[in-house]
Amino acid sequence: MQRYKDPEAKDKMNPFAEQEAWEEHQIGKSKLQFGSKDRKRSSDDYQYVFEDGIDFVKSSVIEGTKLEEDSDQEDADEKDMLKRELQDERKTLPIYKFRDELLKAVEEFQVIVIVGETGSGKTTQIPQYLHEAGYTAKGKVACTQPRRVAAMSVAARVSQEMGVKLGHEVGYSIRFEDCTSEKTLIKYMTDGMLLREFLGEPDLASYSVVMVDEAHERTLSTDILFGLVKDISRFRPDLKLLISSATLDAEKFSDYFDSAPIFKIPGRRYPVEVHYTKAPEADYIDAAIVTVLQIHVTQSPGDILVFLTGQEEIETIDEILKHRTRGLGTKIAELLICPIYANLPTELQAKIFEPTPEGARKVVLATNIAETSLTIDGIKYVVDPGFCKIKSYNPRTGMESLLINPISKASANQRAGRSGRTGPGKCFRLYTSYNYMHDLEDNTVPEIQRTNLANVVLTLKSLGIHDLVNFDFMDPPPSEALLKALEQLFALSALNSRGELTKTGRRMAEFPLDPMLSKMLVASEKYKCSDEAISIASMLSVGNSIFYRPKDKQVHADNARLNFHTGNVGDHIALLNVYNSWRETDYSTQWCYENYIQVRSMKRARDIRDQLEGLLERVEIEVSSNASDLDAIKKAITSGFFHHSARLQKNGSYRTVKNPQTVFIHPSSGLAQVLPRWAIYHELVLTTKEYMRQVTELKPDWLVEIAPHYYQLKDVDDAGSKKLPKGEGRAAL
Ligand code: CDP
Ligand code: MG
Repeated sequence: MQRYKDPEAKDKMNPFAEQEAWEEHQIGKSKLQFGSKDRKRSSDDYQYVFEDGIDFVKSSVIEGTKLEEDSDQEDADEKDMLKRELQDERKTLPIYKFRDELLKAVEEFQVIVIVGETGSGKTTQIPQYLHEAGYTAKGKVACTQPRRVAAMSVAARVSQEMGVKLGHEVGYSIRFEDCTSEKTLIKYMTDGMLLREFLGEPDLASYSVVMVDEAHERTLSTDILFGLVKDISRFRPDLKLLISSATLDAEKFSDYFDSAPIFKIPGRRYPVEVHYTKAPEADYIDAAIVTVLQIHVTQSPGDILVFLTGQEEIETIDEILKHRTRGLGTKIAELLICPIYANLPTELQAKIFEPTPEGARKVVLATNIAETSLTIDGIKYVVDPGFCKIKSYNPRTGMESLLINPISKASANQRAGRSGRTGPGKCFRLYTSYNYMHDLEDNTVPEIQRTNLANVVLTLKSLGIHDLVNFDFMDPPPSEALLKALEQLFALSALNSRGELTKTGRRMAEFPLDPMLSKMLVASEKYKCSDEAISIASMLSVGNSIFYRPKDKQVHADNARLNFHTGNVGDHIALLNVYNSWRETDYSTQWCYENYIQVRSMKRARDIRDQLEGLLERVEIEVSSNASDLDAIKKAITSGFFHHSARLQKNGSYRTVKNPQTVFIHPSSGLAQVLPRWAIYHELVLTTKEYMRQVTELKPDWLVEIAPHYYQLKDVDDAGSKKLPKGEGRAAL
């Protein structure tokens, strides 16, 4: 086993060393730690391969309540083996004993708050109970989830349990993907999708029950749903509302819903031993890897769940773990690595639920999704680095960024609890007990108080809710954020000066997109480039998974990528070039391989594009192509994204034009070496620096031409930048 004392040596062993130059901004962000005053421990302080890994102190045991096992094994009538097994399994869930009591309560009360430990069967069972009790004869049962993966996977599970085809009696609906039919009785959906359903059906007449699940997550859409369902419940006494949550602070929900009764499902929870590190960890990625390997080698059988902040981190750890376990030899049990995150392709998601083969150990690398949304059986060890990605918003500047932040105490306890579901468990916290006690907040701030509200305000206005200040929020958003959203929508011409929805605003609200993107689509009518605009919007909606960059073929991949950037057209047009080239090959998979493009992402973009094309028709915008006029396309982009403009500084950084802030072009951008004098960007991401991602060159006059109410000539006066040293402003205008 190797010892690594100097960082250079570590790099030589690091399979990612070459990639780091490009990904430095990604890996770098993981080097977070608690309490900067604490003694720092660098990753070089301990050996890489767990000989004297991380010191943990056993600190506490979270006691749980134990329930007796339910022994009802009878279900003789079922012919189908799987279905019978699943039916038996259903009866072993903690909620089963309360089935009849629960149904009685639903009959008696219109609104009920349901509280139960993760894994007790709330999400999968309650909608089925309601179906069995006849509620679906009166209308659909909706069950909302904050996360798309959860909606899909739970719907798949329930359709299996009921022995029906997914999309028939049981279906799901997430943005850009509707897997339901005329037959659908139980509909799992993201909270955002139910919110959108109000637009077409303001009284939710086709539903008999709405279950707002995972209410404790307090996502923006869930919070808005609270207000809307509370309102319609008053004039729809037949509509049943269930608010379900995994945490015990249900009084708040009960108070909000006019003292609705609280139905508690006692969980089956075993004691969990909590261990803390003796000193803070300098790099939680390294620490997590070492801990997983330590558990694997030293602890008794049982699967491991590691909480990480996002896809990149999960992929990084996945590869490092694969690399490290390869050298462990045959004496050590096999370690199966199963990632789970929002964009993971559906067919790979099922893997985490498959039972671990005899003699092997499973390690699930998950985002926050495994905290309460998904129950994975067989987990005995939890590794909790103590971080999650959280959106934060500065209403003063209007800037939103995703930041890696310490989790709350409530989250830490939820995470620990995941190890004690089927037997006593252990949780390894990669932070000190001092950090836990003093640095972690009690609860996560609800999203409504830390996000851009433009989208929600547009939706509420389209629902005819004008008086936003007096909307019945469970926790109101900061008034500054509301005001900023109104201002932004006004600047986008979605609202008039009296705050009323304009025709543009009404059209924008039809698209399930951020208002800036919707505005780009609506504006494309004027520039006769709606065909290009929907292609760009769908490519942007897929996220950052279009280009594929295998480690051993980086040069080839980079060259292939640059082909789409010929003429320094900018990232938006490059995405359009990718889409159009693929379309010209009749959507060839081979073409994707040859060009280092992820075919799965492209297919998703095509799906999204088809839907956006349908919506164009709905708002009566003709599909017209203007492919040769790049300026027209860029003007359409500018019509939506003029808030996101930046100007080059002498030192190669950029300053955002309004609310000046220093930002940089993301290294993955086609313009990263070009540095145009003026740029417009899709989004900001904060990693090691504040980066603009998806950047296109801009003519400053366009800002005044397109958004005269937002920019004056003085904002775009170019004089200050004319003294640029030669070469720096190659693409300057
Ligand atoms: O919602 P709650 O956390 O109370 O529990 P649930 O999601 O209804 O999970 C109940 C049971 O269903 C768990 O034991 C899971 O193992 C199982 N389940 C599954 O096998 N596959 C899924 N996709 C979802 C749940
Ligand atoms: Mg659930």
